[in-house]
Amino acid sequence: MAEDESKPQGEGASRRGMLKVGVGVLGGGLALIPLVPALGFVNHPREHRMTSSGGGFIVAGKRRNFTGEPVKVDLHADQVDAWNRTPDVRIGSAWVIEIDGSLTAFSTVCPHLGCAIDYNPETKKFICPCHKSSFSLTGEVEEGPSPRALDTLEVKEDEKLVTIRYLRFRQGVEVKEEV
Ligand code: FES
Repeated sequence: MAEDESKPQGEGASRRGMLKVGVGVLGGGLALIPLVPALGFVNHPREHRMTSSGGGFIVAGKRRNFTGEPVKVDLHADQVDAWNRTPDVRIGSAWVIEIDGSLTAFSTVCPHLGCAIDYNPETKKFICPCHKSSFSLTGEVEEGPSPRALDTLEVKEDEKLVTIRYLRFRQGVEVKEEV
C-alpha cells in the first residue's frame, strides 16, 4: 500500500512544524511593535494629568485677607488632559502667613508622609495629626518624624491680590525636591 505523501513525516515534518511556529511567534511580535508607542500615547493623558495653571501662579485671595493668624486657602485651576477640560478643580491647599509684613505660603502636605497639615491657634504651631510632627510659624520642625521643614510655595503679592504657585514635593526625604 502506497504512503500518503501529503502527510508530514519524521524529522523533516517536525522541523517544518517548528519553523511555522517560529515564524508565527516572530510575526506576532513584529505586529506588536507599533502598538507600544500607540499605547503610550493613549495612556499619557491618564498618567499625566495637567492643570491649566501649568505650574503657574493661582489666585489665592485678596491681600487684605492675609493678616494676623495663618489662613488656609484652597487653590483651584482647570484640569486638562488630551480629551477633557474640567474647570475649577482643587489642586491643593496652602497655609499663608504674614511674617514681618510679607507673606509666606506653606504647602499643606506634610513632608513626612503626606498627611494634611493643620494649625493650632492656641499653641501657634502647625501640626500633623498622623505622626505628631509639629512646626513653628516659620515652618521649622519642632517635634516628630518630619525629615524637613514645611515646604514653602512661591507667593506673589501686590496691594490687591495674592497668587501662589502650587507644586508638590517628594515626601520622606530631607531635601525639598519637586515631583
Ligand atoms: S505624615 Fe505628617 S508626621 Fe507623618
